[in-house]
Amino acid sequence: MKEKQLAGEEAVHYIKEGMTVGLGTGSTVYYSLMKLGELVKNGLKIKGVSTSKSTTALCEQLGIPLISINEVNRIDVTIDGVDEVDHKFNGIKGGGGALLFEKVVASISDKVIWVSDSSKVSQSIGHFPLPVEIVPFGYVHVLRTLENHNLNPQLRVKQNEIYKTDSGNYIVDLHLKEIENVEQLSSFLKNMTGVVEHGLFLNVVDTLIVGDHDRVNITIVK
Ligand code: A5P
Repeated sequence: MKEKQLAGEEAVHYIKEGMTVGLGTGSTVYYSLMKLGELVKNGLKIKGVSTSKSTTALCEQLGIPLISINEVNRIDVTIDGVDEVDHKFNGIKGGGGALLFEKVVASISDKVIWVSDSSKVSQSIGHFPLPVEIVPFGYVHVLRTLENHNLNPQLRVKQNEIYKTDSGNYIVDLHLKEIENVEQLSSFLKNMTGVVEHGLFLNVVDTLIVGDHDRVNITIVK
């Protein structure tokens, strides 16, 4: 079994009858959704809160019932992927462009589980380009400001068109290689006019599940 599949399926053990479950986005969570779909088919009752149009589409296909985020008070457990995670359990997310909804869902979740393959675990985050979601209006100026701060921004383009998030915003990927101070960069980006959200997820994950060859490593972070 692939590492992503091992991690994705393992996370589903944390879902219990009656729970409200945050459903992340990406190719690792795909395996969680496939497993969850089976359990739902066999009678498990849960309500899912989706983090993207693609996850919503897959849930509809699999018969996983969804509820709007505005109709829940809290989420019991959220399962999501991650693009890079370090030994302090800080992560970079948003490779798939869903970082904004993923962060909102994580912020109201009692427990956040990340599922990953072993290639994404690193000593310090920053090798994976850091996604920053920005509003289209005046985006050129945000790009310039990021450039002036030597943050190596690259506007995300897909099939020759500017990539748009589910909210209709743009994504700028910062090619940093290394981040000296993650907290500092996080508040710098958060305070920049035109920036909606960024992909630094600091102090967010509660349980990390990593597929490693043919086994899973589970770390209880908090
Ligand atoms: C979506 O925008 C991301 O945050 C994903 O959760 C992350 O990119 C992990 O995706 P994969 O599981 O496809 O690698």
